Amino acid sequence: MAHQWRGVIREYAERLPTLAGAPVVTLNEGGTPLIQAERLSAMVGAQVWIKYEGLNPTGSFKDRGMTTAISVAAQKGAKAVICASTGNTSASAAAYATKAGMTCAVLVPEGKIAMGKLSQAIAHGATLLQVDGNFDACLEVARKLAESYPVELVNSVNPARIEGQKTASFEIVDALGDAPDIHCLPVGNAGNITAYWRGYREYATETEGTGGPLPAVATKTPQMWGFQAAGSAPIVAGHPIDDPETIATAIRIGNPASWQQAETARDDSGGRIEAVSDAQILAAHRILSAEEGIFVEPASAASVAGLLQVHEAGGVPEGATIVCTVTGHGLKDPQWALRGADGSDIEPVKISAEAYAAASELGLQ
Ligand code: F0G
Repeated sequence: MAHQWRGVIREYAERLPTLAGAPVVTLNEGGTPLIQAERLSAMVGAQVWIKYEGLNPTGSFKDRGMTTAISVAAQKGAKAVICASTGNTSASAAAYATKAGMTCAVLVPEGKIAMGKLSQAIAHGATLLQVDGNFDACLEVARKLAESYPVELVNSVNPARIEGQKTASFEIVDALGDAPDIHCLPVGNAGNITAYWRGYREYATETEGTGGPLPAVATKTPQMWGFQAAGSAPIVAGHPIDDPETIATAIRIGNPASWQQAETARDDSGGRIEAVSDAQILAAHRILSAEEGIFVEPASAASVAGLLQVHEAGGVPEGATIVCTVTGHGLKDPQWALRGADGSDIEPVKISAEAYAAASELGLQ
């Protein structure tokens, strides 16, 4: 039989000892493309690669951590899972809970999640509760529910989530032959930067696997560069933000659960966590789609916006190998593609059903 990618639990079984013995609930997530970005490379004078996490089964990186979280929940005999979400976690939890035969409830900030994500949670049969409050309030409610009722919390405060998400670093090192010099990614609740840093560290040292010690695969770890949206940048500000705002609703978070771990990743890797404006995010979104052929949701573009910002400040080492994770697919929140750089709506041109009309509009004669 031809080989197909088997999902992160099976592909990296020996490096996921906490999953040993658990049933595997998978939609064959992971194995996403690492794409060479020639235009961005030329723009910043480095070797830039894009890790396109929008190509996971539910369209975001969350699937890597959801296969592990739901598998561990299944091992415990859980019948119901719950999460707070800015959209992607709820879409992923709903799909994996369905696959496992569990019920799923999701708490989302009312009016602040993208339509694509809302429809995914509903399509997969989750009970969707729209909360009059932001993500931080949703997470507080979800945590309290999981403490007092028989439901498993599958937010990234669940250790199984981080275990699954660390596999993205493994894939990058496996593809490049070593760790990159710099890794850029958006930061919201800060689970992902925590997971990547763990993955890179484990691959750079001898670690205990399921069958004994595993040799180091990488000779080094990268600098971790995290980017928050300017209106929702608590780690940059050094204090929680009560009313976070950004068009990148996925990272509209004022008090990240993994704040401390994100600072550790930054400091231990010699990296940085900075803020990028919504305008910079949208400009990077446009560069990715119109110059690299990669369609992402706005939050995902924060990694590239950040890289460009550091480059403008003269902070990108020449010739460095840089990976930018783009975390979610553009179809989740497509409205941003329909706006021009000046913020005006882009209206598709209408023509009669005649070749000459098309030719004339295209300037072909
Ligand atoms: N990018 C996207 C597309 C996201 O959905 C998220 C988080 C992030 C980046 C940030 O990752 O939280 O690990 O720092 N989304 C969560 C959710 C909060 O509910 O879907 P993080």
